[in-house]
Amino acid sequence: EKGNYRHFMQKEIFEQPVVVAQTLRSHLRRVEQTVALPQIDFDLASINRVTIVACGTSFYAGMVAKYWFEQFARLPVDIDVASEFRYRDPVLEPGGLALFISQSGETADTLAALRHCKAAGQTIAVVVNVPTSSMAREADLLLPTHAGPEIGVASTKAFTCQLAVLAALAAHLAVKRGRLTREEEAEIVEQLVETPACLNAALAHDEEIAGMAHLIAPARDVLYLGRGPDYPLALEGALKLKEISYIHAEGYASGEMKHGPIALIDEAVPVIVLAPSGPLFEKTVSNMQEVRARGGKVVLISDAEGIAEAGEGCLATIEMPKVHPLIAPLVYAVPVQLLAYHVAVAKGTDVDQPRNLAKSVTVE
Ligand code: F6R
Repeated sequence: EKGNYRHFMQKEIFEQPVVVAQTLRSHLRRVEQTVALPQIDFDLASINRVTIVACGTSFYAGMVAKYWFEQFARLPVDIDVASEFRYRDPVLEPGGLALFISQSGETADTLAALRHCKAAGQTIAVVVNVPTSSMAREADLLLPTHAGPEIGVASTKAFTCQLAVLAALAAHLAVKRGRLTREEEAEIVEQLVETPACLNAALAHDEEIAGMAHLIAPARDVLYLGRGPDYPLALEGALKLKEISYIHAEGYASGEMKHGPIALIDEAVPVIVLAPSGPLFEKTVSNMQEVRARGGKVVLISDAEGIAEAGEGCLATIEMPKVHPLIAPLVYAVPVQLLAYHVAVAKGTDVDQPRNLAKSVTVE
């Protein structure tokens, strides 16, 4: 039931504070301030490599996780889309953890990749939203998301719940590998507990973002730029927009602009820049200024500090709360979802059932 919402996608975007909180509750111990994963009969400390495989939006969640696993747990991570992974004869050495991320748990390529890794002796971890799915059944380590049924074809709440589980897993691996002190673990748990409130703060910009839809809806092409963990968010923003509004959109790592895509920039191309203030901010802003110098129309998504520093002269700005770098990808997912949603509504497309797409891709 859609309740007071116009579309399932809109309802699911607004459910995120609640379902992310639910998902985090099952992976954190708030009183002890520790990360808690299900009991398993192998030692996660012995893992020497992680291979992440997924498709679409779930793949982008995996890309964010790669930054986290490397940064916090100092674990080498390999990641690929399932359709490529299956056929490239990947090197899978003993002691590897293979991690599959899927809302449905039935995506054909991801499931086939899981079976391939199992046969190759990898330990199988699965982040999945449907607890009765094939992937859930075949996992050694099952890490459920508690997003509830996702009806809109474009994934929203499943994505942020995946990120919540992956952040907890990153912290857990870091603890197991002796990379986090008790205090640092408690600090991360504290930040994760804050996430639902930050998602609410992001959702408060709904009307303002709806008011920007007319700036994007007439465009033929839109670019999304980000750095570090916000690079996968740029890819996700572009995917959401193309799926439901049918506007051609691409996400790029900000630093790649001058290696080609900047040739596309003119007054007709809106560029959405995802740039929380922090160590990578200046670099992203300098890429943004290069876009502006060529007539590009920038929508800057940042926090108050970032907007004060670089917001002048932008077509529009969207102010996110200032958050810990670990939860920024969850929070920045909200404005890109809302922007895609409102542009699609402005264009009058079928938001919940976009053309040519199926909710669950059970054929290759
Ligand atoms: C995008 C979207 C798809 C799915 C992809 C994987 O909005 O929904 O890209 O993320 O088809 O599906 P799951 O997660 O079910 O394996």
